[in-house]
Order: sequence, then structure tokens, then C-alpha cells
Amino acid sequence: MRIEKLAKMMRERNFDGALVSPGSNLYYLTGIRIHEAGERPTVLAVNSEGDFHLLVPSIYENTIKDFPVTFWRDGENPYAKLSAMMRELGIDDGKVLVENTMRADWLIEILRNSKVEPHPLGKVMKELRMRKDNGEIKLMEKAAKVADEVFEEILSWDLVGMTERELALKIELAIRERSDGISFEPIVASGENGANPHHEPGERKLRRGDMVILDYGAKWKGYCSDITRTIALGKPGEKLIEIYEVVREAQERAFQVVREGVKAKEIDGTARRTIEEAGYGRYFTHRTGHGLGLDVHEEPYIGPDGETILENGMTFTIEPGIYVPNLGGVRIEDDVLVEGKGRRLTKSSRELISL
Ligand code: CO
Ligand code: CO
Repeated sequence: MRIEKLAKMMRERNFDGALVSPGSNLYYLTGIRIHEAGERPTVLAVNSEGDFHLLVPSIYENTIKDFPVTFWRDGENPYAKLSAMMRELGIDDGKVLVENTMRADWLIEILRNSKVEPHPLGKVMKELRMRKDNGEIKLMEKAAKVADEVFEEILSWDLVGMTERELALKIELAIRERSDGISFEPIVASGENGANPHHEPGERKLRRGDMVILDYGAKWKGYCSDITRTIALGKPGEKLIEIYEVVREAQERAFQVVREGVKAKEIDGTARRTIEEAGYGRYFTHRTGHGLGLDVHEEPYIGPDGETILENGMTFTIEPGIYVPNLGGVRIEDDVLVEGKGRRLTKSSRELISL
């Protein structure tokens, strides 16, 4: 039924078909999750009438049932089969939407074997996926709850002396114990490493006086959570404590702006102004947030250029931060749902916690 929604949008916008490779769009449209197709061509073809057919390597023969499918075996030419499929569906020429992340080697073969005029599928899919239905919201609530539970557990650990890598691994295990897995590799950034928003956890040992940024998320039936909390070990310097309060204030004010009908950039603007007024504007180096769903980064993006008008059912993060070289950083991130006003899905305390 989601495929029919895509077909309807294609008819309205004069696209003839779509080619979807494995990933969250394929899962959203069909419920089929291809765990690891790798280099083996795997493509769902859809025409604007809503007819569809899937080309899949035969390693999935026993997992894909009750779906119009053509399997191909190693040694066969999958592109000949794909061409026949596309001819059958009447989409071997015309304007065809192609998965943004389709491998170039597949696309090159497709373009050689057809007269397709490719267009990015993402632009159309984002409109289908941005507004979550009630079933999707339930799954996101669960993913967010796992993130909160893991934070509680982290607070019970003896962190001083642990390396960033050790802590990241423990966080990953705690997530996996409670969910379908991590939504991205956990970030642990301690002390001066906190000045790098996407620091890769390393061998630095956590010590007293550190601020530690913890950024991680869980997946539940495909849906992602993404939380950041910054905690103190012992008593960090005055400057970092001041920065913490600025970020907390920016995050809260931005959250208060969330409601149906507001533009994404107004949320970013509110967080940014708060940080600028405190004199740290040049240290807030990224957008305020990103949409969240089957992908951990998706539409709507909450940045200075965010023209998307918020609607009920949209889910995204609010995650301002301040990063001062040679000193450290603070980021606070929650997952938020638009429901008239904003509702936080992640609920862990945002007060500065000192262990
Ligand atoms: Co995050
Ligand atoms: Co995020």
C-alpha cells in the first residue's frame, strides 16, 4: 500500500517509474530487509501504475516469500534479467526515479541497457517518510526509551580510568542487549576531545575534571533513536560549566519553538541566537538537528536553510553544541515529535550530572 502511494506521487509528477536498491526506502515500501546484498545487483522496479517486481540474488531464495520476485544466481547476468523486468513494467525508457545511494556500477549498467532518464528518488521518498504514522511513532518511542535506559545504566558505571573506546563498546553492548542494534557507532569524547563534534573514541582515559560527551542511539524494528548527554566527572572548570548552561538553555528554547506550522530554520535560529548572545556563536559549528526515522539522518534537516514547514508526525533531533578547541565541548540532543507542539521522545535529565 506504500508502493501505491509512491505510484500516485509518480503519476502526479510525471515520473514513469522507480528503481529502488536495498536500504531504508526498500524496507519502507515493502517491509523487505536485505541484510547484505553487497555487490550483487538487487533492485525493486515500480511503474506509475503501481505494478512492481524485485530482482534479488538467489541467496535470498528462502527468505523472500509472497512477493513478485526474480532470483538470479552467481554466474548469471543479473542485468539481462533486470532489463527484461523493466521492459515488462514499461520503464525501460522515460523519467525514472533512482535510489540516491544506488551503487554506480549498477546504475552504469542500467543506463547502458535502457533509455532511462534518471532522477533522484530521495526527493519523492522524503515526502512519504517525513510524516510518521502512529505505528512508526510507537517504534520510535521504544527506540528512544532504550536510549534513556542505557543512559541510566551508564551513570551506574565507574567511568574514571576507562578509555573512550572501552566506554563506547560498553554502551554498544548495553544498546544491543535491549534493542535490534545501534543506529550508529557510539561517540565518546572526553576532555579536550569534546571539541570535535564527531570524535572517534580513542585510547584517552577518562579522568576527574572531564566533561564527557556521549552520543549514541538504538534501533527498534528499523527505527532509530539518537541521544547526546554531556556528563561531568568530578568538578570541571568554571568555563565548561558556563558553556553547559548555555547549551542547555539553547536546547530548551529551541524545543519550546517547535509546533505545527513553524519552519525548521526557526528552531535552528532560536538555538543559534541563544548561543551567539552568550558569546559562543563561532563555536557552534553544525546545524541544530536532523530528521530521524528509518535513517538516523533524514529529512527534515533543522538548519539555517531549513525551509520545511513542520507538520504533525515529523520527528527530528534538537542538538545544539559548543566546541572550544583545547578546552572541550558540550552537546545536548533529544529526539522530538511534532504533535501540535513538540514532545520529547528521549527523556533523560538535561541537568548537569556530575559523577
Ligand atoms: Co547524536
Ligand atoms: Co543526531
